[in-house]
Amino acid sequence: MSQPQWIEVTPVNEHAEVTRRQFAQTYGHEPSAVWGAPGRVNLIGEHLDYNGGSVLPIALPHLTAMAVGRAPADHAGAASAEARVSSAHGGQTVRFSLAELASGSVTGWASYVAGVIWAMSEAGWDVPAIELYVDGRVPVGAGLSSSAALTCSTALAVAQASQAPADWPWTSVNDDGARRALAAACIRAENEFAGAPTGGMDQSAAMRASAGHAMLLDCASFDIDQISWPAEAELLVVDTRSNHSLIDGQYGGRREACERAAELLGVASLAAIDMADLEATLARLPDAELQGVVRHVITETDRVARVAAGLPSGDLTAAGEALFESHASMRDDFVISTPELDRVVADAREAGALGARMTGGGFGGSAVVLCRPGTATKIGEHIHRGAEQMNHPAPGLMQVLPSRAAFRLG
Ligand code: GLA
Repeated sequence: MSQPQWIEVTPVNEHAEVTRRQFAQTYGHEPSAVWGAPGRVNLIGEHLDYNGGSVLPIALPHLTAMAVGRAPADHAGAASAEARVSSAHGGQTVRFSLAELASGSVTGWASYVAGVIWAMSEAGWDVPAIELYVDGRVPVGAGLSSSAALTCSTALAVAQASQAPADWPWTSVNDDGARRALAAACIRAENEFAGAPTGGMDQSAAMRASAGHAMLLDCASFDIDQISWPAEAELLVVDTRSNHSLIDGQYGGRREACERAAELLGVASLAAIDMADLEATLARLPDAELQGVVRHVITETDRVARVAAGLPSGDLTAAGEALFESHASMRDDFVISTPELDRVVADAREAGALGARMTGGGFGGSAVVLCRPGTATKIGEHIHRGAEQMNHPAPGLMQVLPSRAAFRLG
């Protein structure tokens, strides 16, 4: 039998130091700072952000680090001010002219970085010639928002090196108003520049989550409420290492189905429909696909409220049950689960987990498992064995605590 694969978190100091050194080697001078932003795992409230509902993510301890420095003099030989970005994952330094940024002008992973600079410039930031070095340690393609970690770490790094617009509403990056505005720029960058139709939960979590809390985010107003994490709850994240991508069209397809249903029902947001009106609402829809997506959104909204109310009082049994229900809803009604994810959830239940569900956009990626104290390791091992029996890829296992939002690492 193969060994379970536990994914460790790089200590912050080490991550900062490695990124600083890599920056210095690449650009020949020291960076002015290293910023970092976390991945996120959504405890519950899936596909609700773009439906105007509430979601309950936590920030992961896994970070993307971004070292930043102004170019010593404007880059020699460049016709106009440039940004340059290099990555620990290899490939050449990507260069782009700040004056010529437009959707599609930079492609691949660097489009997320360029997109943030573009969105911040659009918001009135004066961005100088700049150098960036990224070292991402959030599992990629796992539904844990490595892209939001990239955009949010870029936003803080760029903010530090740039001149804020005159009407910018804040003075410190620790101010929630500042973080909300920078998250909005990151959302624009992903939607309009990189072409990823994400709904805003991921960037908000990476920018605004709080250690020791789950973040209840109302996606109609983007107001947050930090919900105390019960000390006795253990959380396991399981990356199935099966496919997940936001730009392959399936995520967009679900969004479109939701929009179609909202239009047919004449409502601005599906999440605003009351649970008491569920059956009457479904009866007004023409087919099983639209009924499924609407049933998911309405029942998931109710589950988020239940979990947010139950967590602070330590009612973990009820919260766990809501997680299992959420998984069934995504499998049967929203139809975004996979055999790998279904198996993880079944094995988690068998091993005694309080609750488990797939998390993130779906069609692969990760599951989140709520465990009684002292049981996460055993449950992780059981899930590993289950995957092995099925000839599924060996999952990446992470035992996590709700961690802090983006911050300065060094
Ligand atoms: C992805 C998107 C988010 C959200 C989730 C589903 O992670 O980026 O905005 O829609 O899927 O809850």
